[in-house]
Amino acid sequence: MNLSHADINEFRQLVLEHFAHNRRAMPWREHPEPYWVVVSEIMLQQTQVDRVRPKFAVFIARFPSFASLAAAPLSEVLGLWIGLGYNRRAKFLHGTAKEVMERYNGQLPRNLKELTTLPGIGPNTAGAIMAYAYNVPVVFIETNVRSVVLHYFFANQEKVSDELIREVVTQTLDTSNPREWYWALMDYGSYLKKQHGNNISRAASYRRQSTFKGSLRQVRGKVIALLATTPRTTHELENLVNDERLTQVLAQLSHEKLILTAQDRVQLAE
Ligand code: ADE
Repeated sequence: MNLSHADINEFRQLVLEHFAHNRRAMPWREHPEPYWVVVSEIMLQQTQVDRVRPKFAVFIARFPSFASLAAAPLSEVLGLWIGLGYNRRAKFLHGTAKEVMERYNGQLPRNLKELTTLPGIGPNTAGAIMAYAYNVPVVFIETNVRSVVLHYFFANQEKVSDELIREVVTQTLDTSNPREWYWALMDYGSYLKKQHGNNISRAASYRRQSTFKGSLRQVRGKVIALLATTPRTTHELENLVNDERLTQVLAQLSHEKLILTAQDRVQLAE
């Protein structure tokens, strides 16, 4: 897919014009330092901006740097993660902080290759970090970016591959100020969702997020929240959670090293 200069300019103008009038303020945009960008991007991977905002503020107040996060016990990080969901991300972020301290002397790496070796950071999150923290023009795809491209370039098409979406992102990327450009794309994507509903199901890569209510995720969240206040016996958990999938969930959480069990005492991992 090859776009003409005219197509590219028209698209950029539309997105930047919208941004000029509707820019969303976010703390991690006011201070796009590497630590704030990493924390916010991991929180934003599966959680919406409005739910991330208050959690981010509390998190940064308690852990203002890679050093303070790396020094904390995982149990405390998991405690602050309650309400954000997908709690494996708390362990990933904690692991990333530890690696930044141990392997990189407290400085977040400044290239895609090393960023993607960190826990919880895949190619797209690494790309977002390069653009937001360092203002380096890297191509990446994220749900809002996908929405904009589908809406503008692939109206009414189904099963649009990420390969095609990537070609468009590559050709339209504003290499002079990628940070602002991606903020603008995200805000336009979010605006489109409000106007027209979600269109990402037309992406070939689309997977529906499972319903939270009644899900294993919900049971996981419940167990973590219960353990955040105090360790419990399995029997106590059985009574409090009252769900036949508890054993499965405990095995999962244990396997992911989010909890520890010793002599029937279950606690959050340190
Ligand atoms: N601004 C910076 N990162 C963002 C993200 N992942 N989603 C929405 N807005 C953002």
